[in-house]
Amino acid sequence: MRRGAIVALIVIALIVAAITTGIAYFVDWLPEQASEERQGIDLLFWVTVAICIFVFAVVAAVSIYAGVTFRVRPDDESDGPPIHGHTGIEIVWTAVPTILVTVIAVLSAVVLAQNDDPKGTPLRVDVLAQQYAWQFTYPEQGGIKATNLYLPIDRSTKLILNARDVLHSFWVPEFGQKQDAVPGIVTTLVITPTKTGEYRLICTELCGLGHALMRTRAIVLSQADFAAWTQKQAQGGGQAGGGGGEVDAKGIFTANCAACHTLTKAGTSGTVGPNLDGLSLGPADVEEQIRKGGGGMPPFEGQLSDAEIKALVQYLTGSNG
Ligand code: CUA
Repeated sequence: MRRGAIVALIVIALIVAAITTGIAYFVDWLPEQASEERQGIDLLFWVTVAICIFVFAVVAAVSIYAGVTFRVRPDDESDGPPIHGHTGIEIVWTAVPTILVTVIAVLSAVVLAQNDDPKGTPLRVDVLAQQYAWQFTYPEQGGIKATNLYLPIDRSTKLILNARDVLHSFWVPEFGQKQDAVPGIVTTLVITPTKTGEYRLICTELCGLGHALMRTRAIVLSQADFAAWTQKQAQGGGQAGGGGGEVDAKGIFTANCAACHTLTKAGTSGTVGPNLDGLSLGPADVEEQIRKGGGGMPPFEGQLSDAEIKALVQYLTGSNG
C-alpha cells in the first residue's frame, strides 16, 4: 500500500516533469543571443527553470494523487480522520526551497559580478534618457551624439546612464540585462556585443504617456565600420551630418519628437504632445519652445546643436519649405 503510493507519486512526477521539460526545450523562448553577458544570464534562466520544473512536478504529483485517492465518495457525510501534521515533512519542505532559493541567489550574484566586469578597456557611452527619447554621447570620440546606440563588436562598452526627468530603463533583449536610468543617480551597464546587426532598444520602465514609443535601435558594427562611423560623425558634426554640413531636419524630428508629436509629413503619430500639423506658432516661439521646453516638454538646448534647432524650426514652421 505504502510502496504503491510512492511509486504512483514518482510516476506522476516524472510524467509532469517530462511534459514541462518538453515545453521548455522545444519552444524557442529567448531572443537571439548577441552579447557575452547574455551567456551567464541564459545559464541562470535555465537553472531557475530546472528548479521550477522540479518543484512543480513534486507539487503536481502530490496534488493529483491526493485528489484522486482521497476524494470524497458520493453520500459520504462523515468527517475526515483528525490529522496532526507531520514534523519531518514540514522540515523537508522548508529546507529544500531554502537551499534552492539560496542557489539562485548565489548564482545571480556571481553572474552580475562577472557581467559588471568589462573585458579590457571599455568604450564609454553616456546615455541620457528623457520623456520620451534616448540620446547617446561618445565622450572619447569628440563628444559625438546619436539617437541610435552604435557599438563595436567584440569590445566591451560601458554605458553611463542618467535620466533627465523620471525613471526609465534601458533594455536590449538580445543583450540581456536591463538597467534603470534614475534622475540624480548614475548607473552603469557593460555590454560586449558578439553579433553585428540591429536590435530593438526599449524603455522598460513605465515613464509616462509616451513610454510605449520610447524605442530606438542598438546597431552593432564591425570594429572597422565603427571607426569609420565615429570618424564620419566627428567630421559631419553629429548625427545630422550628411557629409557637407547638410542638416536632416526630418531625421532629427523623427529621432527626437516622434514619440510625442503627430506630424504627417514626418510620418509620426505620437499623441503625448500637441499635434503639429497646422502649427500656428511663429518661428521665434517654436525655437523658444524647443530650446527651453515647458508644458510637459523637455528642453532640447544643449542636446541638439544650434544648427539642428534652426533646421527643426524651419522644418516645423515651413519658413523654408
Ligand atoms: Cu522611458 Cu518608459
